Amino acid sequence: MRNPFIAGGKLYLRGIEKEDLTGNMAKWSNDAEVTHYMVMGTFPNSGVIFSSPDSIEVEYKRLLKSRTDVVFAIVDKKTDRAIGITGLYDISWIPRHGDLRIAIGEKKSWGKGYGAEAVELLLGYAFGKLSLNSVQLGVNAEDKRANSCYKRAGFVYEGTRREFVYRNGRYYDANLYSILRSEFEAKKGPKGQKKKRKG
Ligand SMILES: CC(C)(COP(=O)(O)OP(=O)(O)OC[C@H]1O[C@@H](n2cnc3c(N)ncnc32)[C@H](O)[C@@H]1OP(=O)(O)O)[C@@H](O)C(=O)NCCC(=O)NCCS
Repeated sequence: MRNPFIAGGKLYLRGIEKEDLTGNMAKWSNDAEVTHYMVMGTFPNSGVIFSSPDSIEVEYKRLLKSRTDVVFAIVDKKTDRAIGITGLYDISWIPRHGDLRIAIGEKKSWGKGYGAEAVELLLGYAFGKLSLNSVQLGVNAEDKRANSCYKRAGFVYEGTRREFVYRNGRYYDANLYSILRSEFEAKKGPKGQKKKRKG
């Protein structure tokens, strides 16, 4: 592992580096399959406007100085290669909440439990280290994988923003979810032990 900040079973989160954004992110954010369902703009232009290393460098510099966005590279422990990015955005420090965003850009890594693990690690950081009280997100209602991933992590469905996302000639609904610190802690069980999943 190289510069791990939070480590899990299959992956670790480390601070973003310039190459994560100008290399990987420039590639992933121009990939229509990766961005198809994106709602909240984990990548600045979310597949609508092109991204180039130069344009993403602007975002990288902004993130380095930001006091409201904390963004990590998601790294596969086996290969030490970044497979995506995730972070907490628009943190409000008085009500203590923030938006969770995630994108696994390496398509071969989809559906292998990396998203679920990255979300769990990020929530542990949000509640344990930043002492947030809740984390929220928005997701394309038709993105079955992402909806399952968030429900599995303990997010509670709050409602639907109708026709909130526009992609390639049609509108999609966006589902809104949140998780409270108390819900995350109850799910983890006593002493941070993860409760066994039913079934
Ligand atoms: C959405 C994303 C983060 C999920 O991460 P992932 O590693 O692919 O997902 P996981 O392997 O952790 O699977 C999560 C759940 O989806 C389920 N799933 C996997 N593939 C699925 C599919 N094709 N259809 C429906 N459910 C699927 C898994 O079984 C799992 O559900 P379970 O916990 O009930 O078993 C990732 O696929 C991604 O970043 N995609 C591209 C960008 C994007 O859309 N980001 C989300 C923006 S809100």
